[in-house]
Amino acid sequence: MSAGGEDRFDRRLRSADPAFAVVVGRMPLQDRFPLPKDWLRCEVLERHLVLQCARVVPSTRVLEVGSGAHALATIPLAHAVGTNGRLLALERERWGQFGTLVRASGLAERVHPLRGDARQLPLRTDSVDLAVCVHGIRSLGSEEHMIEVFHEMLRASPRIFLSESLPIARSDAQRAHLAMYDLREEVFLETHGRRDDLHYLPLDRLVALAERAGGSVHGSGSLDVDLPHALAYFPRSLVEAIPPGGRREDLLRRWAEAEAMRERYGTDHPPVGWIEATRS
Ligand SMILES: C[S@@+](CC[C@H](N)C(=O)[O-])C[C@H]1O[C@@H](n2cnc3c(N)ncnc32)[C@H](O)[C@@H]1O
Repeated sequence: MSAGGEDRFDRRLRSADPAFAVVVGRMPLQDRFPLPKDWLRCEVLERHLVLQCARVVPSTRVLEVGSGAHALATIPLAHAVGTNGRLLALERERWGQFGTLVRASGLAERVHPLRGDARQLPLRTDSVDLAVCVHGIRSLGSEEHMIEVFHEMLRASPRIFLSESLPIARSDAQRAHLAMYDLREEVFLETHGRRDDLHYLPLDRLVALAERAGGSVHGSGSLDVDLPHALAYFPRSLVEAIPPGGRREDLLRRWAEAEAMRERYGTDHPPVGWIEATRS
């Protein structure tokens, strides 16, 4: 955690909707090196802050694409749709702690998990009011995959909201996050034969992809959440598993540099870009 991380979290939480702060407090503390014990609370709060830009109205039907193993955006979305709203949480494969955490949030009745591929949504046209993808674009494998997913989101919903970290650093702690994060694509390609999380895209590229998917972009922006973010970390042993020769030595050197930055500055969320689009 960067210096002052806890203070920033407390400050941000105090300025959030008090009812949502109660939900955040229900997230369990977890020991998972190098994350702080309250990492889940911090990430759920970060998603809540980003989702303020999505203007989720109570009593609406929302589709979330790529909910992930920890329901980090699912929980603030379930809070935002209110008691009469409905949240469809679509995920292809990583369910992990999803059910446990949604139940812990007290909002499980509003959440309807759906297993499926967002390139072929199991939903009728205009069956939801809003479709969102929060911090999940990085996991969509390729730009072609992104266009297919955005196209399907625009079919299922008249309005979509996309948000993702940007490849921008305004502080040493954000630079430290990007140094480790940007190694993931290459290291996973060497060790697993696939890219895992892609490099973050610039905002104008995201806008272009949404337009190629058939979207008309009505709003976009970026926000600096000013919160710690250590999830990009992976251990040195993963790089050591690369066979000698090739990229191994270069990646080990870059991993050591990124780790030294993490130890010195901590790691923070880079600015987050968002766009809102309708079908064109
Ligand atoms: C970075 S993760 C979790 C993002 C989460 N919304 C958050 O706030 O952290 C993105 C998720 O998208 C899922 N995913 C990737 N491609 C998908 C697809 N075509 N359909 C459904 N889920 C997909 C991955 O399995 C992964 O769990």
